Order: sequence, then C-alpha cells, then structure tokens
Amino acid sequence: MSSISSYSIIHDLEDQLPSNYEKEREELPLKEIPGGYGLPFFGAIKDRWDFYYNQGRDGFFQARMTQYKSTVFRANGPPGPFMAKNPKVIVLLDAASFPILFDMTKVEKKNVFDGTYMPSTGFTGGYRVLSFLDPSEPKHKSLKGYFFSVLASKHENFIPVLRKSLTELFNTLESQLSSKKEANFNPISDTYSFEYVFNLFCGKSPKDTVLGSQGNTTVDTWLVPQVAPLITLGVPKFLQLVEDLLIHTFPIPSFLVKSKYNKIYQAFSSSATEVLDKAKDFGLEKEEACHNLIFLTCFNTYGGMKVLFPSLFKWIGQAGPTLHAQLVHEIRSMVKQEGGVTFAAIEKMALTKSVVYEVLRIEPPVPFQYGHAKEDLVIQSHDASFKVKKGEMMFGYQPFATKDPKVFDKPEKFVAYRFMGKGEENLKYVFWSNGRETEDPSVDNKQCAGRDLVVLMARVLLVEFFLRYDTFTCVAEQFLVGTRVIFKSLTKASKFHQLKSFE
Ligand code: HEM
Repeated sequence: MSSISSYSIIHDLEDQLPSNYEKEREELPLKEIPGGYGLPFFGAIKDRWDFYYNQGRDGFFQARMTQYKSTVFRANGPPGPFMAKNPKVIVLLDAASFPILFDMTKVEKKNVFDGTYMPSTGFTGGYRVLSFLDPSEPKHKSLKGYFFSVLASKHENFIPVLRKSLTELFNTLESQLSSKKEANFNPISDTYSFEYVFNLFCGKSPKDTVLGSQGNTTVDTWLVPQVAPLITLGVPKFLQLVEDLLIHTFPIPSFLVKSKYNKIYQAFSSSATEVLDKAKDFGLEKEEACHNLIFLTCFNTYGGMKVLFPSLFKWIGQAGPTLHAQLVHEIRSMVKQEGGVTFAAIEKMALTKSVVYEVLRIEPPVPFQYGHAKEDLVIQSHDASFKVKKGEMMFGYQPFATKDPKVFDKPEKFVAYRFMGKGEENLKYVFWSNGRETEDPSVDNKQCAGRDLVVLMARVLLVEFFLRYDTFTCVAEQFLVGTRVIFKSLTKASKFHQLKSFE
C-alpha cells in the first residue's frame, strides 16, 4: 500500500496558482458583450433546442464560448417560452466573472432559485420559501437564522445518525450485489439519504409516519415537476417534440401532486415538533416554518444528496484501486488514532477532504446560478470588462467556472490530491455552495445554509465506505440532473471485524 506521505502532489500545485492576475484584471479593456437573443420567441426556442437536444448542456455553452471567443456572452437561458417571462441572460463561464453572483450588493436573488422561471408556490403551501428570498427581504434573515439554529442543535447527531443510515445502505447494496451480480446505487442511496435527513430533523424514521416505506418516492413525485423544465429525460429523437411540449413549455401544475405534498406536510408537522416549536423564537408561524422545513429537508438536502452521493462514487470509482488504497490507509489510521469516527478524526483526513472538494469542483451538484443586476455594473472576465444594465439577468454555468483553465491545472482531470497542502489556497475557486469555499454562509448572503453539513456528509460517506471495503468497481452514466452508478463489485475489508469495534 502506498503511503500518504509519498504523494508527489503538492509541488505541481504551487506552480499553477495564477500569478497576480487579480491585479492585472483592473486594466482590462471594456468590450460589448458578444452574442445575442435572435428573433423574439424563435431565438429562445432555437436556444432551448440547442441546449436540450442539438448540442446538449456543455455543448451549448462550449459552442457559444468558441464562437464569440468570450467566456461572457448573451444567450437565451432554458427553458424559455412560455415558462419564463424573459429568457434573456448574460452567461458567465469563468472563475473571474462568476463570483459577481455572490455579491449581494450587486445582484438580487429574488425568485431566481430555479432561474428564469419560478415554480408555483402551490408546491410549497402558498409560501415563497427561503431559497426564493433575497437577503434584502426581512423573512430571509428570520428563516435562515432559524435554520442555522436548528442545524446547531442537531450537530451532535450529524455523524451517528448518518452512520446508522449508511450501514443500512451498504447492507442493502451488498445483498443486491450478491443476488443480482450488480447493484443500482441510486435508488438505494435515495432511500437511505431520505431516511437520514428525515431522522435528523424529525427524530424518527419516515417509515413510522404516514409516509410509510415509500417516503422518498413520494418526495420524488413532488420534486420532479419543479425541476422538470431544466432536464431532459434523454428520449429518442422522435419523442423530443413531445417531451419539449410537456415539460419545457408550460409549468406542470402543482395540484397534480397536492395529495402527495399533503402527506409530506402531515408527516413533518406531526414529527418535527421539537424543531417547529423553535420557530416562534424567530418570529415565525409554525405553518410557514413547516413548509420551509419540508423544502430544506426534501429539496435542498435530499435533492442535493441524490446528485452528490452517486457523483462521489463515480469519480472515486474511475480513479481506481490506488486511490482506494490511499483512502483506506488514511481513513483507518485516523479512526484508529482518534478512537472512532469523530469530527476530530475526519478533520485530520487530508486526502479524504481533498477528494470531496475535487468532486464538488469537477461536478458541482447544482450547476446553474442566477441573479439580476441591482444597478448598472461592470463585470470582468479574465480578458475584458463588460457593462451590464440594471435588471439584466446573469446566468453562471458553474461546471465551466470551476474547470477554468486559467485557475486550475488540468481542469478536466480528477486530481484526488488537488486541495492538499498549498492546493488548499485554490478552495476559493470552489463555488458549489453558491459562495467561495473559503467564505461562510450567513443571513446576509445566499450561500447554502447546509454548506458544512454537506461536506461532512460526503466525508462520512467515504469514511464509512472505506472502513468497510478495500476497493470497488462501478460503471456510471448520465442520468437526469446527475449520474447513475451501477456497482459491479465490492471487496470487503480484510480487517472489517476489528474495525467494527469503532462503531
Ligand atoms: C448536496 C447537498 C446540497 C447542495 C449541492 C446544495 C447547494 C445549494 C446551492 C447551490 C444553493 C444556492 C442556490 C442559489 O440561490 O443559487 C443552496 C442554497 C440553500 N441550501 Fe443548500 N445544498 C445542499 C444541501 C443543503 C443542506 C444539507 C441544507 C440544510 C440542511 C441546505 C440548505 C440550503 C438553504 C436554506 C439554501 C438557501 C440559502 C439562502 O436563501 O440564503 N442545503 N444550496
């Protein structure tokens, strides 16, 4: 087994940090934003078809970036008519221009959580929930402050409750693999991810509520119509027009999933009593707090885990057995040294932490971010400055910004140790949480309230996995907004039984 200290890593990274480019940017020439919107209506439909069907998501941005020789350009954002009143956006594709979206003095983030369209508030009990509020709205402060306090109160439960769900997840994965010779990770991961988040916030298993054993599929039924305008099911060519009309043209009405949502509401309102009782300390009514808690648990957290967990296994699976051996070595030594799976042990796992950040960099689970200019602005890419008018929408496509070749060496390559040692400095270019990884979420910004929990969950997933297994193989394919992972083999840890003593 190669030792952690033998990585030939950190030195290459020292050379890749851009030399004083922040300073040089000040003198950048002012240019017209290239690109355009085409004919009214038809231009937006053309861009929509390019995005979903003709060019695909990355192809859409790559083609225009090449055509205009610019990482900032004008285009119509998906889905367009008739979902969005105004699909015109200014696309941002580099690490220099993208962070304008984090500056709450410059951009407004009201109702832009899904982009150029907003799903009906019928999906959330008639309330505009936290994710749709701008920090200038007083409710944003109360709700985000409330959730910070809820998260702080659950801190001690984060690791043990997750480990319990992960044990069940891996038991199920193993038994499927032995009976069917392969195991589809996603549905198993979804079941136990939901089990975890429900347990964390509601203090019991969703199975013991009106949701029964199908809790996560009930939640999926509610989630899908809200994000459907942003996805394609990958249908054959002859069905593309039908799909486009059904999911990209008109909103899917919320009444279709009302009975499912009512069930979710019932489960939360009757189980999360301790959490909901705290709401009044923040000036919030229980009912509004409950709709917000549902969105936070089922959309923000469970929805994020649906994408992130498969993505972790995809990249680590592709990296192969050498990385697995290094992770095994680090994880088991630190757990042994610290006497268990603790915050302190995880904090010392430099490679595990770097791997998680690298997955979040190379494949950010939420790829799109939006904001309206609050005033006339000048934004900067690496090569030029551009004027943006008050009210115009900026649309950042994060996978390009966090694979910016001017910031990251070999940006398309999964480099497990990228954020170790001096490489940690580049965490300021990791944007997955709608903020720099070196900055913190607050009631005054729109950075993910669960930023630290997400990073922790990903680390614990790897810790638990590599305590239990030596290595694995899997295949991965594009699936809706993320990845589908099929496990082909799992090699159990030879010393698994000794390690069980740390449980
Ligand atoms: C893999 C999991 C997750 C991912 C990828 C993720 C990602 C994000 C992103 C990108 C945003 C900003 C959206 C925008 O306004 O442009 C966001 C916002 C938010 N996230 Fe997360 N998130 C995850 C999990 C969580 C968790 C665990 C929580 C809390 C328990 C949470 C709570 C929130 C809240 C409340 C907001 C809105 C913040 C505000 O309005 O200021 N998220 N998340």
